Amino acid sequence: MNFNLSEEHLAVQEAARSFAQNELLPGIVERDNEARFPAEQVKRMGELGFMGMMVSPEYGGGGMDAVSYVLAMEEISKIDASASVVMSVNNSLVCYGLEAYGTEEQKQKYLTKLASGQVIGAFCLSEPEAGSDATSQATTAEDEGDYYLLNGTKNWITNGNSSSVCLVIAQTDREKKHRGINCLIVEKGTPGFVVGKKEDKMGIRASDTHSLLFTDVKVPKENRVGEDGFGFKFAMSTLNGGRIGIAAQALGIAAGAYELALKYSQERKAFGKQIFDHQAIQFKLAEMATKIEAARLLVYKAARLKDEHKDYVQAAAMAKLFASEVAMWTTTEAVQIHGGYGYVKEFHVERLMRDAKITQIYEGTSEIQKLVIARELVR
Ligand code: CAA
Repeated sequence: MNFNLSEEHLAVQEAARSFAQNELLPGIVERDNEARFPAEQVKRMGELGFMGMMVSPEYGGGGMDAVSYVLAMEEISKIDASASVVMSVNNSLVCYGLEAYGTEEQKQKYLTKLASGQVIGAFCLSEPEAGSDATSQATTAEDEGDYYLLNGTKNWITNGNSSSVCLVIAQTDREKKHRGINCLIVEKGTPGFVVGKKEDKMGIRASDTHSLLFTDVKVPKENRVGEDGFGFKFAMSTLNGGRIGIAAQALGIAAGAYELALKYSQERKAFGKQIFDHQAIQFKLAEMATKIEAARLLVYKAARLKDEHKDYVQAAAMAKLFASEVAMWTTTEAVQIHGGYGYVKEFHVERLMRDAKITQIYEGTSEIQKLVIARELVR
């Protein structure tokens, strides 16, 4: 076992930390208040190589490992979870999915632009009636010979408005159930493809979450990713890696709140001494530090298994389950340590608490992670 990070890992971590401090922190409260997409900051993430970190340089990516990716996700999420979800979806769902399963033409046409951050991608699986129960796809992709005719609605789509390239999961053959589902690359601007309502969210407010509507959208056959009927397997195997990204996001949110609480506890005085010197506060901070370290080990382990091409399904689900619970608990306690100041926006911990909640919901709820873990126990 080797717990040490390499020189390269430390450099990525430092680059992400300094980008988050210098370029994401300024204006973050305003962007959250106004639910304003961080367009300039996301462009910079592309320039700095954070949008396609694990993609091969041949396709415009950074050619880095999953450990580097989680280190960057952690640092960026300490400050700005809205920016980090844009990054996470682009990296681990869209870029990974295309690189692992796309054709050479699809990689040249789409992956190169996505990995370099010239365009943003979206992953469109969830529907009004299909969240956790993802095989119940109502969106249809009828086989019309040299194209698919796409009809349906996707919900809660991260990067819904800001994306140019969407991976859309849809049912082609209902009789074949999940084996009759396909994944199609659909470009914005295709006739019949409309961006719907923007969601007014509790947290990650600066990321843009929309419904997407498809009415008789003609998608060329060459835009199908993988063999006919591979779409559900594509979604599941892509989400296995996505969950490592969200686990790293949850870890970052928890660590960000903990660092703020630790600092505040050494500044604020009550009953004649720093509040850190009260055991009630020390115990909270000790428990936070311990849980965060445990979450970090699970996240790094899942990333390391992915890098070693070993099975990481269960490790990813465990990391996401645990890190997201730690994020929710730690951020709530960080607000408590800040007292009245914790409840107002300029101290940042209330935002982190709102942001933490989604990590227990998207890319598979905590309940779905338990289901995945339990199935692996007896597989
Ligand atoms: N990895 C690889 N394959 C998997 C898999 C996994 N983790 N889980 C299931 N599969 C495969 C199965 O092997 C099976 O294939 P075969 O029949 O060919 O063997 C097929 O998928 C269907 O599996 P099940 O029979 O187990 O299907 P199910 O309906 O009982 O359960 C589920 C599936 C695990 C509950 C799945 O629906 C699921 O993960 N749901 C959660 C969906 C989710 O995570 N949504 C996130 C939306 S995207 C998002 O949030 C992005 C964002 O904006 C940030």
